[in-house]
Amino acid sequence: MKALILSGGKGTRLRPLTYTGAKQLVPVANKPILWYCIESIVAAGITDIGIIISPETGEEVKTKTGNGDRFGAKIEYILQAEPLGLAHAVKIAQPFLGDDSFIMFLGDNLIESQLEKFLANFQQKQLDALILLRQVADPTAFGVATVDESGKVLQLVEKPKNPASNLALVGVYFFKNTIHTAISQIAPSARGELEITDAIQKLIDTDKNVAASELEGWWLDTGKKDDILAANQIVLDARLKSKNLGEVDADSNISGRVEIGVGSKVTNCKIRGPVVIGENCHLEHAYIGPYTSISDRVTIIDTDIEHSVILNDTNITGIHQRIVDSVLGQRVKMQVSPKRPQALRFLVGDDSQLEIM
Ligand code: DAU
Repeated sequence: MKALILSGGKGTRLRPLTYTGAKQLVPVANKPILWYCIESIVAAGITDIGIIISPETGEEVKTKTGNGDRFGAKIEYILQAEPLGLAHAVKIAQPFLGDDSFIMFLGDNLIESQLEKFLANFQQKQLDALILLRQVADPTAFGVATVDESGKVLQLVEKPKNPASNLALVGVYFFKNTIHTAISQIAPSARGELEITDAIQKLIDTDKNVAASELEGWWLDTGKKDDILAANQIVLDARLKSKNLGEVDADSNISGRVEIGVGSKVTNCKIRGPVVIGENCHLEHAYIGPYTSISDRVTIIDTDIEHSVILNDTNITGIHQRIVDSVLGQRVKMQVSPKRPQALRFLVGDDSQLEIM
């Protein structure tokens, strides 16, 4: 059994963060989303992992994630020259996958459930494919399944305008090697991609054994800013433990679960967890409210922040208003300037979003 993680694609919905980095490396509770996928695969006993990367962000994914040693796994990187679809990614990974069965995990999906139970089901029933489904309010952004009363999968449609059910396909799939033949029999969809939903439909149409399980627990597809914030909140709630490896002065007040990394200094601050603060941060006279993740080397002075994700090397100084529901990228500088005339001055990248009172 092997695993294939898809960490290519363009990440257009997470711009501007994805102009300079992979969406799968955006941190949730200070850990790249991709690493949660790797950890749950390794926890299920699978250590032979292929990761699909793109020419734009592949080097960063490789450098940051490494050869798998830190996860107790063996990672091989597979370059997909263009994002031509999820089934195209499987096609180019065929030399890595060989004749093995495999889990395919979309590198921007986060799930609470462990994979073991599904893996056992897939193996015991000798299925050609096992898909995971979840009821959602608006299925039009997903692959959508129709399932009969016995749980048999009848039909799959990718992002339908008029969905036949509210059962969305979760980005975790289990496949036998028969998927490769199915992929060789499909053509690109109207949006020009080889769709994995079409390949699974081909398995169904050729009487192969395709089953579905409903996913329990939370599932997040981290495609947009609010998804990142929701994922951050859920993961901090579920997994954060208090730990202080930094320095907190006597004038600071810390309540709830708060993790502070090595070399970070907290002076005269109020921090209300769950909050995670990375390494070598400088926090002074600040309020950090619940569900905030602050990455490494971040400076926050005279500012209140809550329910936000702040990436590496960002500096926020003297903003005397509360920042909420925000994702700030790397090396952002936000400060009050003494310059006249008093005014807002910006240098903001393409596709940024600013909401000002
Ligand atoms: O999140 C679940 C949904 O994921 C499913 O319900 C859909 O059926 C499935 O098609 C997929 O839809 P998305 O629109 O969310 O897929 P996205 O283009 O965001 O790609 C998912 C991941 O795969 C992401 O980490 C990027 C990567 N990818 C994508 C493409 C198209 C690749 O590595 N190569 C590709 O060619």
